[in-house]
Amino acid sequence: MKYLNYRKQCIGRIQGSPDMEPIVVFENVYAGYSVLRRFRSIKPSYMGVLRNISFKLHRGERLAIIGESGAGKTTIIKVLLRLLKPRRGRVLVFGKDIYRVSGDELRRIYWRIGYVPQDPGRSLNPRLRVEDILYEPLEAQGIGWDTFLEKARNVLREVGLGTYILEKIPDQLSGGQQQRVLIARAIIHDPELLILDEPTSALDVSMQAQIINLINKIYRDKKLTLLIITHDLAVAQYLADRAIVLRRGEIVEEGGIDDIITNPKHEYTKLLISSYI
Ligand SMILES: Nc1ncnc2c1ncn2[C@@H]1O[C@H](COP(=O)(O)OP(=O)(O)OP(=O)(O)O)[C@@H](O)[C@H]1O
Ligand SMILES: [Mg+2]
Repeated sequence: MKYLNYRKQCIGRIQGSPDMEPIVVFENVYAGYSVLRRFRSIKPSYMGVLRNISFKLHRGERLAIIGESGAGKTTIIKVLLRLLKPRRGRVLVFGKDIYRVSGDELRRIYWRIGYVPQDPGRSLNPRLRVEDILYEPLEAQGIGWDTFLEKARNVLREVGLGTYILEKIPDQLSGGQQQRVLIARAIIHDPELLILDEPTSALDVSMQAQIINLINKIYRDKKLTLLIITHDLAVAQYLADRAIVLRRGEIVEEGGIDDIITNPKHEYTKLLISSYI
């Protein structure tokens, strides 16, 4: 596999146990999109994407969602972030049914989450300087500029960037720097759960290894819970303890990441693995 020459960081689970109340619970979730089929009807029709998705993520765990492009990985994250309402099923985040709470209660839940979106280039507002990009989540919470600057200096150090970067705009940054800025923005408010959507797919191989090491370091130092979305089994192996394998919106396999890779049960998982070895 691609990363076999990099030493796997055997850091293990840092806290928690499966008996504790899970941080994320999906219960029989069905979700999809309304799409306009222009030439057939003027009414949008429903396209189902997720089918009967159930899983739990416990405190301190590192869970990967694996599957090929279009499997519905990002759609799971949209449902979790309350950007896409499921048709059926329940989603609990920090013990609350997120589609039944609102206002301050909802804001308190999302304050405990950091999110690194897919595609760093497109996820950063090209007109904002890094300082404004990092300030955005804190400003919304009424945190003053001086407090922010102190936090920004710390978080930039944590992600391996110098403070000079604060004055840059995204176009002036390399792909690796952009990804580090997105990670900084996701952790600046000290979340408990960090969600990373394809954290390495836009990067070249040596940069991928650096970002993997960085995510593992942050996980360990900040005692986080990780949810990692990837189509790349090697990335999952380096970042996760456990994985669910998604195929066309359905979970076909679930288990310890090393087990899944060395002893896959489902044909689709075997196919994914054979294309990476
Ligand atoms: N806003 C949308 N409107 C309509 N269909 C969508 C929308 N977003 C995604 N889809 C469709 O839903 C399916 C799942 O998409 P999703 O983005 O969740 O896949 P993914 O597993 O994240 O893929 P990738 O690895 O390419 O990011 C795809 O068929 C996609 O075309
Ligand atoms: Mg995606």
